[in-house]
Amino acid sequence: MADYTISVELAGEDLAAIKTPLLFVALGNGELSQSLSGAVLALDAVLGGSIKTAIDGRDFRGARDEVFYVTGSANGPKRVALIGTGKGSLTGAKLKRAAAIAARHAVKLGTGDVSFYFDGVNKDTLESAVVGLNMGAWKYWETKTLPPEADRRAPLTSASVAVAKNDSNAAALSDGLAVAAGYGLSRSVAMLPGNICTPDFLADTAEGIAGRYGMKFTSLDRAGMTKEKMGSFLGVAQGTPQEPRFVAVEYNGGKPGDAPYVLVGKGLCFDTGGISIKPALNMEWMKFDMCGAAAVLGAMETVGRLKLPINVVGVFGATTNMPSGTALKPGDVVQASNGKYIEIINTDAEGRLVLADLLSYVKRYNPAAVIDAATLTGAMVIGLGTKLTGVFGTDQQLIDDVVSAGEKVGEVAWQMPMYEEYNELIASDVADVKNTGGRTAGSITAALFLKEFAEGYPWAHLDVAGSAYSETDLVWLPKGPTGRPVGTMIELLRARAAQ
Ligand code: BES
Ligand code: MN
Ligand code: ZN
Repeated sequence: MADYTISVELAGEDLAAIKTPLLFVALGNGELSQSLSGAVLALDAVLGGSIKTAIDGRDFRGARDEVFYVTGSANGPKRVALIGTGKGSLTGAKLKRAAAIAARHAVKLGTGDVSFYFDGVNKDTLESAVVGLNMGAWKYWETKTLPPEADRRAPLTSASVAVAKNDSNAAALSDGLAVAAGYGLSRSVAMLPGNICTPDFLADTAEGIAGRYGMKFTSLDRAGMTKEKMGSFLGVAQGTPQEPRFVAVEYNGGKPGDAPYVLVGKGLCFDTGGISIKPALNMEWMKFDMCGAAAVLGAMETVGRLKLPINVVGVFGATTNMPSGTALKPGDVVQASNGKYIEIINTDAEGRLVLADLLSYVKRYNPAAVIDAATLTGAMVIGLGTKLTGVFGTDQQLIDDVVSAGEKVGEVAWQMPMYEEYNELIASDVADVKNTGGRTAGSITAALFLKEFAEGYPWAHLDVAGSAYSETDLVWLPKGPTGRPVGTMIELLRARAAQ
């Protein structure tokens, strides 16, 4: 799992001269043959006009995700395909998706290499295309036996973007690879089964990142967490013999003393529900309950590669939620490290218990902002489905910035309400707060619970229960981890770094 990216080059705009087994040409909806760029027209001349024929005959309309293969050439690209980017102006988010689909086609064909062309290159669009190519090339092999050599399709190991070879494009390419590496790391870690992706494994992955980029690595085991009085996190971990891990990775790219941005992730390596055990059907998906932590790891990998001129801390809490003789029970009361008492109503509401101690812990950094990502509630999947991430928080500017960062990278987020009135649902007779508020407004009461611990800094909470992984194929990505919200975190950090 050492390489998180494929190698990507700039190929120049002479499309007919690109020696690739497969060239994808991105075209928007309603892009008539008259409006084709000079580069596409020159290619079409070599291909005997097959692109124009496809467009004029309405075989290809440029609709989003539409793919149409035309004739290839003997001396240039062996195969040529058109990929639609849909209506409206060409954005980075659209190109990310189109480039991923192109790469997925190359993976299926086993071409080993793919080239991607689009008209209108700038820093953002080129970077997005590079990210997309990598996202489409991503494949999970860690615990699968490779098919015999003769039946094996070549993996996609290289790609190029058919744009001018100049310094600004080279910089966009390198930034794209940095972002892609974060996504790749995040998805690979997330996809690993719970018996391999243990809390120790996540901690070791963090230590690896810290080592590569000169970040400070801190990890606490059960004893260390006990010293920090993390009674809430420890409550979740008390049912498993596996050592839980609290991890913090500090990157100092800014001035010493500059308030850091803190990323916090839920890292449940597996969530059985504990004593309030989940039904068996589909429980295997709960290996993805560490996607928040995986996103923090991915974002830190990218931060290190981009050398952002700000201070960033990545924090996560890793454990498994298990039923056992030592497990937490409904009715138990635990005390979090900020002193607040929590009554356990349902042991399956464990993510918020882990986050309670993480959010209390990070106050010591005097953060410029804290952003947490968590596969926190099934109610989020019911509320917004799998397309949008729910955003909550205490700072409207931060929430707005998270939403616009998400929009830019195609990870759309939607602000959810945090009305005080919902607090009565989590009022307890024996503690300061209950860990669940009943069936209604489940994502909101979860966020309000977190708010009790996210005090003293601007805070945004991303409930990625629906968006961090997909149980079905997404056309541009296979089923499994989506890498969300790595892109959102990075985009937000970059926007703040540029301020
Ligand atoms: N990890 C789950 C939330 C989840 C559910 C994520 C489905 C992705 C898909 C979380 O720990 C959980 O179990 N939440 C409970 C809370 C309830 C007991 C108040 C839930 O959503 O059912
Ligand atoms: Mn749970
Ligand atoms: Zn969970």
